[in-house]
Amino acid sequence: IKITYVEHNGREHVIDVPRGATVMEGARDNGIPGIEADCGGACSCATCHAYIDSNWVGKLPAKEAMEADMLDFAYEPDPSRSRLTCQIKVNEALEGLILHMPERQA
Ligand code: FES
Repeated sequence: IKITYVEHNGREHVIDVPRGATVMEGARDNGIPGIEADCGGACSCATCHAYIDSNWVGKLPAKEAMEADMLDFAYEPDPSRSRLTCQIKVNEALEGLILHMPERQA
């Protein structure tokens, strides 16, 4: 599934992420700078934060309460488009997803 990760400096990385992996794993396993994922995907660090492209915000599954709470600890979260990428599982519906990395992680 093709996902485009855009670094804060504008550099784009188009990655083929396997179905069932998380958006965070797609970045981590391909060495994309900007996603740190200190907790390894346990929804307890907020360093996998990214801004979802505005065209995609409404197409993602809704946040669970734990993700919403953790996002408060992210660097400059934007309630309308911030997500923790370890909480988003990749499937066909996300083909073409675009996300933007924050200036830095928490
Ligand atoms: Fe830690 Fe997502 S990897 S919250």
